[in-house]
Amino acid sequence: MRVREVFVCPPTHVALSYAINPWMDPSSGFSRELAIEQWETLIAAYREVEAAPIHVAEAKPGLTELCFFGDSVFLCEGKALFGSYRHPERAAEGPYVREYLLARGFAGTDIPAGVHFEGAGETVMWRDKILFGFGKRSHEVARHFLRQTFGKDTIDFEMEQDRFYHLDTALLPLSDDLIAYYPGAFGPIDTATIESLDCEKLVVSERDAHAFACNAIVRGGVVFGSQGVHDLWPELRRRGFEVREFDMSEFQKLGGGIKCLTLQHYEVA
Ligand code: ARG
Repeated sequence: MRVREVFVCPPTHVALSYAINPWMDPSSGFSRELAIEQWETLIAAYREVEAAPIHVAEAKPGLTELCFFGDSVFLCEGKALFGSYRHPERAAEGPYVREYLLARGFAGTDIPAGVHFEGAGETVMWRDKILFGFGKRSHEVARHFLRQTFGKDTIDFEMEQDRFYHLDTALLPLSDDLIAYYPGAFGPIDTATIESLDCEKLVVSERDAHAFACNAIVRGGVVFGSQGVHDLWPELRRRGFEVREFDMSEFQKLGGGIKCLTLQHYEVA
């Protein structure tokens, strides 16, 4: 698996003006200025390591969570599957992202009306498979459209906890041979499925999961992760990863982290 290109969108108009997950509290003293500063620090560091082109999409007034640019689409091998948001608060982002990506030449498929699918938030590439989360945001049937559009197998997980509403909040592939996951986000059958995968697994502690440990990016042995992760980062350093830590406080108040801020266009080698 490799990344052809990456899309990001600055939090120019970001706001905490509604609550669609338990992390969001509009009275929590959210700072747009600090969010912009945190985003710029992260993206500058990421640019040093990312070999693929990073495209910066223009932010749009009124689309307050557009910085989580990938939450309505999954991109692989020149194809895009456009989803739709569970919550009307984010619905207007979808068409904007869709137009932007179609203009860049993606072959687009729209998920049928009425089916919710929250894109990159619910899809995690591992080897040649798409790991797919559903239940809190996406409809389970979206896996059918993932398989059909991309011709790849999916392994499907039902998200059980309100705080871990997207798969990318609870499961982090570190390499083809290593996956970290937070068991508290999954039921016993999905936990057994993860444990049965033919690779090593690291169990993420509750404390680390609440610090968005799983919402990280991994590139060439470098992990871009949130501050406040006490067990997983030392464990990964012991295993030879370089871990760079970032203060993502403002994005965490929205219920998001580093992975949600970068939309990857994948290619299975
Ligand atoms: N407030 C946003 C929501 O609830 C945060 C999205 C974070 N994105 C992600 N891929 N986990 O939809």
